[in-house]
Amino acid sequence: MGEIDARLEAGTDGGGVTVPSGSGGTIGTPEAPRRRVTGIYLLAVGVVIMLAGLLFGYDQGVISGALTGIQKQFSVGTFLLEVITSWVTLGAMAGALVAGSLADRLGRRLTIVVAAVLFIAGALIEALAPGAYVLVVGRLLVGFGVGVASVAAPLYAAELAPARLRGRMVSLYQLAITIGIFAAYFADYLLTDGNRWRVMLGISAIPGVLLVLAIVPLPDSPRWYVKVGRHEQAKGALQKVEPGVDVTDELQTMEDLNAKEAAGGWRAVFAPAWRRPLVTAITLAVLQQFTGINAIIYYADKIFAAAGFASPASQSLATLWAIGAVNVVATFGAVAWVDRFGRRPLLLIGSAGMGVSLIVVGAMFERMGTASAGHAPSGATTNGTITLVALIVFIASFAFSLGPVVWTIINEVFPSHIRGRAVAVATAANWFAAWLVAQFFLSLVDLITEAGTFWLFAGFCAVTFIFVRRFVPETKGKSLEEVEVLWGDPSAIRRAISPH
Ligand code: BGC
Repeated sequence: MGEIDARLEAGTDGGGVTVPSGSGGTIGTPEAPRRRVTGIYLLAVGVVIMLAGLLFGYDQGVISGALTGIQKQFSVGTFLLEVITSWVTLGAMAGALVAGSLADRLGRRLTIVVAAVLFIAGALIEALAPGAYVLVVGRLLVGFGVGVASVAAPLYAAELAPARLRGRMVSLYQLAITIGIFAAYFADYLLTDGNRWRVMLGISAIPGVLLVLAIVPLPDSPRWYVKVGRHEQAKGALQKVEPGVDVTDELQTMEDLNAKEAAGGWRAVFAPAWRRPLVTAITLAVLQQFTGINAIIYYADKIFAAAGFASPASQSLATLWAIGAVNVVATFGAVAWVDRFGRRPLLLIGSAGMGVSLIVVGAMFERMGTASAGHAPSGATTNGTITLVALIVFIASFAFSLGPVVWTIINEVFPSHIRGRAVAVATAANWFAAWLVAQFFLSLVDLITEAGTFWLFAGFCAVTFIFVRRFVPETKGKSLEEVEVLWGDPSAIRRAISPH
């Protein structure tokens, strides 16, 4: 990040999602000096993005432990159970799609407030739902809120943060997602006894309330103020974030960038010149999901039950530590390594590790015979223990590779004038793929058994490995302009794909 950070201080995209590092250099601005950040406002922005990540993560994780109680109380079948599990993701996809224009119209800050209010309302509807269908409505609302926040919060943070801190902000977001998932598992573990699924789901209103409280005293992003012609407020916001610094150049850069972005638009996103980064980003976004991460996250308890962890408490405990904690810890690895070793090595090692561990998980289920999800064999078994270890390897491999690195790549392969919309397209593809997996995982297990399903995910790990090896250029240490130029230079791409 250093090179980019030192050089670029300005803006982001044309109304979509986070851009982790600056892009002002494309319009030839002078070098901006490195600055010490002293603003308490920046800290508050960090809190906002962390809370948005927590919302995302908590809702990814919490349903895993709530399913059994819901199933008991409403006696729902497999399909409805999958709907309750996965429609949060469908809502999130819709939320992500509308969030771009909402954030342009209302501003980033107000959009986050809207997201949080939707989210709080959804969580309360879930907690009080008299039947399965009202529960589905609550899940959809929560999902919509998560989706809107997942676009607006990183966008807001990226636009308020100095460029040199933008990358860290994105990592913070992924870290908060994993902490949210861990918190959800912890809530599941504490509340497994006595069907307290309503508390598990309702509790998620709390980070929603905190998000509103955290953002109310903050200004909107200077980038948005520039977009709507409020130059004084833009200046004020910049000065709040970096007190005592002359912001004239930075403001000018934003205004120039804004003029350039106006020439972007949807047609430019799909222009042949940018097809290659678009295909790269969408393919990685989809493969991040088709390799099975959320099947494990959503259905962890059920997988452990089928692997021989008999009591709900032992299932929750296995899920909490083997999935939740490992996910958090291994994400720190990516933060440390992504700029040191590069994107390609992490993706290659990670997808290989994920593939091998999934083959082992599949083999264990094959050995255990016909046990299907939700019908536990009695008592923990050697097979169950091996499954546990293999799942730990899987989660750790994902957390230092496909988890954060895919988001990093999505946010750095596009030129500034199409970045927002293009990132939104890739993000929506990610949500849609996540929905497909969550919706059809249990049906897939019924159709081709657990073993077949895990081997299918392993197959997608192989596809990821081959795709990265053959098509994904190394972007480590390159400025965004260098990445932009790369796409138009076939020999440079070849060198970036196989440097030796
Ligand atoms: C993925 C989520 C996933 C999470 C797990 C994120 O990068 O986009 O779908 O639940 O990682 O940590």
